Amino acid sequence: MTSYNAIITWGWLVAVVLTANCRPVGVTAVPKDDDRTEFNVGWKFQLGDDSLAMAPGYDDADWRVLDLPHDWSIEGSFSADHPAGNAGGALPGGIGWYRKRFDVPENAEGRMLYIDFDGIYRNSEVWINGHYLGKRPYGYSAFRYDLTPYLFSRGEPNVIAVRVDNSAQPNSRWYSGSGIYRNVHLVARHPVGVAHWGAFVTTPRITDEHALVIQHTELENLTGEPQQLTVVLSVFDNQGQAVGSVERDFQLADSMGVLDLLLEVPNPKRWSVDSPVLYHAVTTVKQGNKVLDRHVERFGIREFRFDVQGGFSLNGVPTRLHGVCMHHDLGALGAAVNRRAMERQLEILRTMGANAIRISHNPPAKEFLELCDEKGFLVVNEAFDMWRKRKTKFDYHIDFDAWHERDLRDLVRRDRNHPSVILWSIGNEIREQFDSTGITITRDLVNIVKSEDTTRPVTAALTETEYGKNFIAQAEVLDVLGFNYKYADYPRLPTSFPGRPLYASETTSALQTRGHYEPEHDTLRFWPASGAQKYVENGNPDYTVSAYDHVAAYWGTRHETAWSAVKSADYLAGLFVWTGFDYLGEPVPYPFPARSSYYGIVDLAGFPKDVYYMYQSEWTDEPVLHIFPHWNWNAGDTVAVWAYYNNADEVELLLNGKSLGSRRKEDGALHVAWDVPFEPGQVKAISRKSGQVVLERTVNTAGPPASIRLTADRNTVRADGQDLSFVTVEVIDKEGNLVPDAALLIHFSVDGPGEVAAVDNGYQASLEPFQDTKRKTFNGKCLVIIRPGTKSGVATVRAHAEGLADATVGVKMIVKR
Ligand code: GAL
Repeated sequence: MTSYNAIITWGWLVAVVLTANCRPVGVTAVPKDDDRTEFNVGWKFQLGDDSLAMAPGYDDADWRVLDLPHDWSIEGSFSADHPAGNAGGALPGGIGWYRKRFDVPENAEGRMLYIDFDGIYRNSEVWINGHYLGKRPYGYSAFRYDLTPYLFSRGEPNVIAVRVDNSAQPNSRWYSGSGIYRNVHLVARHPVGVAHWGAFVTTPRITDEHALVIQHTELENLTGEPQQLTVVLSVFDNQGQAVGSVERDFQLADSMGVLDLLLEVPNPKRWSVDSPVLYHAVTTVKQGNKVLDRHVERFGIREFRFDVQGGFSLNGVPTRLHGVCMHHDLGALGAAVNRRAMERQLEILRTMGANAIRISHNPPAKEFLELCDEKGFLVVNEAFDMWRKRKTKFDYHIDFDAWHERDLRDLVRRDRNHPSVILWSIGNEIREQFDSTGITITRDLVNIVKSEDTTRPVTAALTETEYGKNFIAQAEVLDVLGFNYKYADYPRLPTSFPGRPLYASETTSALQTRGHYEPEHDTLRFWPASGAQKYVENGNPDYTVSAYDHVAAYWGTRHETAWSAVKSADYLAGLFVWTGFDYLGEPVPYPFPARSSYYGIVDLAGFPKDVYYMYQSEWTDEPVLHIFPHWNWNAGDTVAVWAYYNNADEVELLLNGKSLGSRRKEDGALHVAWDVPFEPGQVKAISRKSGQVVLERTVNTAGPPASIRLTADRNTVRADGQDLSFVTVEVIDKEGNLVPDAALLIHFSVDGPGEVAAVDNGYQASLEPFQDTKRKTFNGKCLVIIRPGTKSGVATVRAHAEGLADATVGVKMIVKR
């Protein structure tokens, strides 16, 4: 049994030593971390290289003005000629420059000033007032530079210049985006205080009465003089109430000192999937009565364990990981970080019943983890898709030797206070799995992780299921083993890898286009695709794949097969389906113009495919009944009608009021189906439990398009220039039925304080730009994303299509102070 309820042994030793020195003090309000200011607004940008652009006096008057986060690739046009290929989304890379003039902020006077970049894709180089600060190759790492020595005094403008080089392509197997696509902050700090990512909060002992909270605190002293300090640690609960505080005197003689502070939180509320309660740990570094530094960390009180035979448990409750893998792009918004867009993804996945995310295959945006903390998702935080052996010609294998230690260490230090993170993954389908260098590199990477965090297990997503051929497993240092695909091998995993907790790190890779349906015999031609064959032969001319659960990549399986295999294998802690959402790039099984993936349970625009309801019926207790396909067919067609359901014994299907019989899920199937000779009208499904009706669902034959229906996911948003309203656009007939094949061009406009941020329709081979105010509906639907301005008011979103009356929806924008 492997237990990860943290560092109990040393935790209690420290407790014994420190309790004597810690004095509890009374605290009343939650202080704020006031030294960080967003630094996103008013940058200048130029696509293309210019070796002089780092010079402070460089003339950038003609450059475009924009706000970060920014992804220039998503603004480009799709083309088969971009070197990223369609695997990279068929969008441009290249070299770009960003510059910004700024005055030293008021709060920086007499303090250190740092700049924090949350992520730049990729090969960023940064200059301040012409001084070179450094380079960061990995596009997913967060990093900080010290600006202090090069700053002019207040009143004299400083210039920061950033060169981003994403020209050597392909460097990724999926869409990466290009530019400063994550947030940037300025941080003003006293030279004495908590070091960058230097506060690590753990909760090694939790009972119903008390939780022991230990903060391992690295204190930095850049003054060159010894400092006599008082350090206060206060913990606040989710209501903002102080629930404990300790203070300690500390002599910081050198440039760095380490202090473990501990206290007990009474009656702790545990962080869990259903109740993700968060606490704050506030560190105040004082000299006498003067506050030098205040540092805030958010954390959760929870314990979990992976058992060799028993799977996973959270706070002692056996919990299966019902997970999905996710890439980082946000569909039509590209890679540019947007909190609301990520939140929407998580909301859609939660409604489906998912409780876990594998962030594949790179460090995430920190906002994504914050959202996972807030919404109760369990996270596998993954560092790399390759080590020294490449997967694409210009990928991170080039930087691995020089940078892996820094990148991995930084990832762990940045993310180790997130209660959502339960596993560190050192890599996905790493090629060194197959040779003995895998042993040494695995040991090196695991050591790096463990030197920063021993409270979480380390894993990797493996493919080789024979121990003798798997050199990563042979390193014997991974705590938990993940296996991708190979579901037929699951039964032998416990004997091949004895003593190791196991989970299915990646499954399925089924292929589907939302709203497109073909009889099973027509989809069989997809199955034979093999390693020798890059693209499917004789695919559909419109690059669609049927949305019945029939088709998968040759290394994957249908959704039902994969989930059934994991469901019955109780020695697996759970699974991560490839993927939750469609993503840009990797459009297996088609060549260009296909440019986004077919793997998602949800399409790129955020519209669920039918199989979403299979998971919902399996992973939630909410009553589910979902029937498909649409009911617009030709006379003479025989149509397979499927139903996903739960909480019922059987489902009856009726065609135009005539019963076609009841069906129950049998032989392990997770759906029921009828072959129905088409006649126009209505199909109706009724689920029943013990003879009582649970749910009814109908699908009607739709008439011609009569109007447009607009549905905003939120009719009120914050007027902060960043919040978003996602408006679903449906072409409906005069009875309100979705017209399932409608492909109408819809024009959008916004009256009032907002604008169209992007459009999409989830069609994997659409070459229409995302950054536009018009979109064709695909299988009846499209999406318009509305971004508020910074003024309160009501924006009226208008949709216009030729021959139909305009439709409108109001979105209220509210300035929150
Ligand atoms: C896996 C890989 C993923 C993705 C997937 C597509 O083998 O780990 O990154 O490429 O295949 O099926």
